[in-house]
Amino acid sequence: MNADRSTPASGRLRGLRMGTALTAATLLALTGCANPEGGGANPGGTSGGGQQVTKTQDAGGAGCTLQQYGVDKLDLTKATVGFSQSEKEANPFRIAETASITAEAKRVGARLITTNANSDLGKQISDIQSMLAQGAQLLIVAPLNSEGLEPALRAAREKKVPVITVDRKLSSAAPCKDYLTFIGSDFVDQGKRAGEAMAKATGGNGKVAILLGSSGNNVTTDRTSGFKDYLKASAPGLQIVAEQTGDFAREKGQQVTEQLLQANPGITAIYAQNDEMALGAVTAVRSAGKKPGTDIKIVSVDGTRNAVEGIVAGDLNAVIESNPRFGPLAFSTAQKFYAGETITPTVIIQDKSYDTANAKAEVANAY
Ligand code: AHR
Repeated sequence: MNADRSTPASGRLRGLRMGTALTAATLLALTGCANPEGGGANPGGTSGGGQQVTKTQDAGGAGCTLQQYGVDKLDLTKATVGFSQSEKEANPFRIAETASITAEAKRVGARLITTNANSDLGKQISDIQSMLAQGAQLLIVAPLNSEGLEPALRAAREKKVPVITVDRKLSSAAPCKDYLTFIGSDFVDQGKRAGEAMAKATGGNGKVAILLGSSGNNVTTDRTSGFKDYLKASAPGLQIVAEQTGDFAREKGQQVTEQLLQANPGITAIYAQNDEMALGAVTAVRSAGKKPGTDIKIVSVDGTRNAVEGIVAGDLNAVIESNPRFGPLAFSTAQKFYAGETITPTVIIQDKSYDTANAKAEVANAY
């Protein structure tokens, strides 16, 4: 029952870093899990045909039962479920996330309503309210910001509709009251692993620019602190000379990189907090007459197909995965909750890494 699965096997998984490809078969062998958490036969229902998220850790407190949350039992096979997407589906992360939830809803038999807030917090609030009005009995929410969804959460509570959040965390909302659980990555660890990859790619010396994600969410702050703390402790020869938001978008990543390279021609490395910005940076580096991946090392986060192919082409040096295929784990968590199990406030997933040692073999698993 939601036992902490940070077992020796998952400890070993966390020990596997750059250059150690985790194939689906390896993962299953290490976890001893023939049917990984999520239970679906569908391997993720994604555009990339890759692997669904796998839980590594339950965290954040005692947990929540149906009675404590104060909601009624629900048969998901006959239920109406609402999914609120935060950002435009121009980014493969968002495409794969929506596809995974859509495929799992279909597999389970639930009726799914989906909305997209297009990076507008006000729209996300009204999207959620509208799905409640349309009869949503369970909500899966990819929050745009870590604060500000209170009116929507209140509306869900009034209707006794549980909320599962994925991929970004709500900061001041209360588990077992405003939401049931958060399912997502350890973003501080992603930043730390990006720092390790950067140290490896640069030999531990250089002038680094950071392309920050959008502001107002824990993903950006955690990926920043994890990276900076790692550099401070373990790679003091890497000096951060500039940091600016590229809003998790390719075009903005390109524009910002162009400006940063003009202002700081000595930049030798770029840490992009997602792949879309990294791919924009690749274009900007090339326009500045430099070779991406060689003259300027580039490390990013996500694991999109284009970025992993970028490693194979030599344009990017490493990518830390952020797996968006939440469908099976989100639905199986809801099923356990309705079956009377206790659900912890935070469910951390496994993310792998890509670099020159494994990118070619792993392209097919990227989204
Ligand atoms: O919240 C997850 C981040 O949001 C992904 O890394 C990024 O691509 C997305 O926009």
